[in-house]
Amino acid sequence: MAFRSPLINVMASAATKAARGLKRDFGEVENLQVSKKGPADFVSVADQKAEDVLYAELSRVRPEFGFLMEERGVVEGKDKSHRWIVDPLDGTTNFLHGLPQFAISIGVERDGEIIAGVVYNPISDEMFWAEKGAGAYCNEHRLRVAARKDLRETVIATGIPFHGRGDHLRFLKELGIVMREVAGVRRFGAASLDLAFVAAGRFDGFWETDLAPWDIAAGIILVREAGGIVSDVKGTRKVLNQPEIIAGNEIVHEKLRILIERAGLPRKPKPAKPAKAEAET
Ligand code: IPD
Ligand code: CA
Ligand code: CA
Ligand code: CA
Repeated sequence: MAFRSPLINVMASAATKAARGLKRDFGEVENLQVSKKGPADFVSVADQKAEDVLYAELSRVRPEFGFLMEERGVVEGKDKSHRWIVDPLDGTTNFLHGLPQFAISIGVERDGEIIAGVVYNPISDEMFWAEKGAGAYCNEHRLRVAARKDLRETVIATGIPFHGRGDHLRFLKELGIVMREVAGVRRFGAASLDLAFVAAGRFDGFWETDLAPWDIAAGIILVREAGGIVSDVKGTRKVLNQPEIIAGNEIVHEKLRILIERAGLPRKPKPAKPAKAEAET
């Protein structure tokens, strides 16, 4: 049986409690009050209720920790080195459309480094959790990133920018470059679960631009503790506040990183063919 530390237990039990409301409201979307934070950026009463439960639970057990929460923002704590980074409902659009791919995501940051994380999908009842140095798990099963090295065999996850957010043409350019090299690309709609699926070896890799810290905090430690690499397009490992995130096993991560980097750079002019070779064709 996998050993869960007190910290993981606190996060797992807060997530389980908040998930009860989400499960109750899932499928009842017509009755949920939904408002817009932006053109296609929805927030429902379910997001807010889940966040209230998480805030109450986590501050009860660790009253000194600070918070960074999607709906509440920053809440300073007495303890300046620790904070919870929380997305109460990652995949709101899926949730509102009755698509069962959404999660509660809780990360713990210590002095700027993510040291533990939990991503919980209430519908599949999969609790992904990881702690620095202790490995990554789904429920009781140890996780390991996929071992594939040949990009042509890989399934890579990404996120398509929502309406009014992100640069769609840039995304399509990146997508085109990646699609030519890999077996397939998926867009499931919850970044925390995309990263959890990389940790679980279900996806070989993942990249996305313009995510917020609460989308990825828990997922980062999951991938790392499952033996994978997470960085930005330059290879920087401190990725929480970078514009893009790239994840995979060591080989896939690097190959994907180079593809994304190439998409962002002006194309090098093709080298001129030697006159002799030209004459031969
Ligand atoms: C969204 C999801 C989605 C990603 C978006 C995020 P939300 O989070 O993680 O996969 O593509 O950029 O905003 O708003 O549903 O918590
Ligand atoms: Ca949101
Ligand atoms: Ca999110
Ligand atoms: Ca959210």
